[in-house]
Amino acid sequence: MGIETSCDETAVALVDDTFSVRASFLTSQMERHAAYGGVVPELAAREHLVAILPLLEQVAGGAASLRKEVRAVAVTYGPGLVGALHVGIAAAKALAWAWDVPLLPVHHLAAHIYAARLEGPFHYPFLALLISGGHTELVLVEGPLAFRLLGATRDDAVGEAYDKVARLLGLPYPGGPEIDRLAQSGEARYSFPRVVLEGYAFSFSGLKTHVRHFLERAEAAGESPRPEDVAASFQAAVVDVLAEKTFRAVDETGVRELVVAGGVAANSALRRRFAREAEARGVRLRIPPPAYCTDNAAMVAALGVELLHAGITADLDLPARASLSL
Ligand code: KG4
Ligand code: ZN
Repeated sequence: MGIETSCDETAVALVDDTFSVRASFLTSQMERHAAYGGVVPELAAREHLVAILPLLEQVAGGAASLRKEVRAVAVTYGPGLVGALHVGIAAAKALAWAWDVPLLPVHHLAAHIYAARLEGPFHYPFLALLISGGHTELVLVEGPLAFRLLGATRDDAVGEAYDKVARLLGLPYPGGPEIDRLAQSGEARYSFPRVVLEGYAFSFSGLKTHVRHFLERAEAAGESPRPEDVAASFQAAVVDVLAEKTFRAVDETGVRELVVAGGVAANSALRRRFAREAEARGVRLRIPPPAYCTDNAAMVAALGVELLHAGITADLDLPARASLSL
């Protein structure tokens, strides 16, 4: 069983030891947070408390056999919102204790990578690009559970930049899908900066600030650039930077497989560009289906299977960790 409560999705899933999803349920709090333009930590924790037990009942489906079937309980313990994480951790500890099965400590980012494992075995070494509302990381996966962080964002995460630029354009939260949709009928006519830092580090706050200044200047000049074109220009800059860095890493490490995961992996322009670049190199590109790109518990249970195979378990005093390195 996998349990995920690190941000604004409460999720519970069952995955078997062949990495097949038996059940996967989720309650999103997105609408509760939309009014604030972002996730409110205290509200998130309270909403998880309301959602977790009904979800567990849903997964059990009234079957008393669940306690006989579940061999371990995997739970995300970080990184994430501490109050939110505690809800899932408390539930997982209670179940592991009551059922007398191992408790498995899941790293949220590693779980995002393992969303791809649900589709088939990994071919090591491979590269993973994690792009979500909270993360922008390039990771070299050298073997089962052997993660090497190559680079990360120095400021905003990609999804965060999408959400902030969407807000500047008066679009609702979460802004990623909105910008993606708008950009499809726009033209990337404005040349927004591509911030390419040294090595594998990323930076997206400068781009966001540039878009803000661009809109302010346009307004002062009495001009009104089409939001579709602004969205397309912003997206082109983001996709350029992500593709350049990622495929440079592919070339430098010589890997034959690339996994892209996290909410922003749902982006249509990014999928097209990455598919093209991967094909040109004969590299296998793996992007989980959208439901497993955004936060879910099937990916948590999938990593749980790997942890169980490796004999990595946690004690009942497992803490919640706001930040946690890979
Ligand atoms: O992985 P996720 O569900 O939650 C986090 O762990 O952050 O990612 C959510 C992020 C949000 O910032 C959202 O705007 C972005 O993913 N996102 C997208 C798209 N769909 C979701 N960004 C760009 N294009 C999309 N189609
Ligand atoms: Zn996530």
